[in-house]
Amino acid sequence: MSKKNSKKMRLAVLGAGSRGRAYSEFSLLNPDKLVICAVAEPNEFRRNLFGEKFGVPEKYRYSSWRALLQDKPSADAVLIATPDRDHVEPVVAFSDLGYNILLEKPMSVDHEGCVKISEAVKRNRILFGICHVLLYTPHTQLIKKLLGTDRIGDVVSLQRLEPVGYWHYVHSYVRGNWRREDTSSSMLLAKSCHDIDWILHVMGGEVSSVSSFGSLNHFRKENKPEGASSRCFNCSIEASCPFSAPRFYSKILKEGNLIWPLDTVIDELSIEALDIALQSGPYGRCVYSCDNNVVDNQVVNLNFSENRTASLSVLAFTDVSHRKTRIFGTRGMLDTDGNKIQLYDFLSDTWEKIEVDSSGASASEGHGGGDFGLMTAYIKAWETGDHSFIKRNIEESCLSHEVIFAAEKARLENTVKNMV
Ligand SMILES: NC(=O)c1ccc[n+]([C@@H]2O[C@H](COP(=O)([O-])OP(=O)(O)OC[C@H]3O[C@@H](n4cnc5c(N)ncnc54)[C@H](O)[C@@H]3O)[C@@H](O)[C@H]2O)c1
Repeated sequence: MSKKNSKKMRLAVLGAGSRGRAYSEFSLLNPDKLVICAVAEPNEFRRNLFGEKFGVPEKYRYSSWRALLQDKPSADAVLIATPDRDHVEPVVAFSDLGYNILLEKPMSVDHEGCVKISEAVKRNRILFGICHVLLYTPHTQLIKKLLGTDRIGDVVSLQRLEPVGYWHYVHSYVRGNWRREDTSSSMLLAKSCHDIDWILHVMGGEVSSVSSFGSLNHFRKENKPEGASSRCFNCSIEASCPFSAPRFYSKILKEGNLIWPLDTVIDELSIEALDIALQSGPYGRCVYSCDNNVVDNQVVNLNFSENRTASLSVLAFTDVSHRKTRIFGTRGMLDTDGNKIQLYDFLSDTWEKIEVDSSGASASEGHGGGDFGLMTAYIKAWETGDHSFIKRNIEESCLSHEVIFAAEKARLENTVKNMV
């Protein structure tokens, strides 16, 4: 696309859940850049709440993405923030009508879906972006810049820890929508397609082989403590359980904000609504009485061409914080906790500390500036016609998904998978 746009982008949003709302917030802070012109959401309460907040006229509020597609409202781009298994079909359908697309990760839960998306994007020559928001944080951009300056020499190896956090893990992966692979996706794809894509972006070059180990260690029926009930609200040991749902959600309720993750549990900010949700809904279940099956600990090893390596650890048993990364080069190393970056130089035997302006790590805090960084880049690419504002192209995004599919196979089959 080469055209230049001086007007604001008109965005149609599919799925007015946590992610659809998070990106749409950009329009409130940047009304000269973005307007939300239509929304598709089956939950009527959410749909109207979203419509009111972002000024979407009633006639452009639809009960499903198919209804919106049929009406073909005027929009420059479509944000697809529907559940994991509802990504491929809308990408193909909307891109075939010529809409530009910003797609929530993961692209697809399998190889075939990624191929369909890639073909549709290329066939229609649309502006396509995937919401790997960590690529767009000031923190990542500074790391890329530092690596480009040869401060640590040639990168030989990288270690990354994704500390999912005990409460985020039980909310999403034990009680919540990502608890089962057959209804959403593997834990690695759901939580860490960000990280694998980030590692490939930072390391550059080709992954030649992959291995992985991991399991569901703790959140299983056989680990249920004696005396525990199937729901927290009538459990005799609730007070001593670190995974108590009432304790966790009431704390957020008391702060008076209907933000993630509370907004996935209740639609209305009241003690009564929370009581009902925890007594009868999925988020009040005992963490040892759910139908979850995704892993709670996993390691992935990546072998790169040119004798380089990387490893990723994804863990439930942590606080919720920024990813931790170490990058090892031929002249020094880089160590970061997601806020400050420390550089060690072999020649002078000294450390240098660089503070980075990183906001909170979680989704409700905008992923360290990544959510709005992505929106800024996508709108710039649309305004200027310069697709290089999008950090990873469609081939690169497909490749990081293929690495994840290979890692999952390697874990399940206890083998090493060759990528080339
Ligand atoms: N980039 C990130 O950091 C990040 C973080 C969390 C989730 N995600 C991904 O974003 C996507 C959405 O996640 P979420 O947390 O917002 O989930 P959510 O459940 O809060 O929102 C999804 C919304 O889609 C709606 N929906 C379902 N079917 C629909 C249809 N046919 N048409 C229109 N809307 C429909 C649901 O009612 C729901 O409101 C998922 O694929 C998820 O894996 C990305």
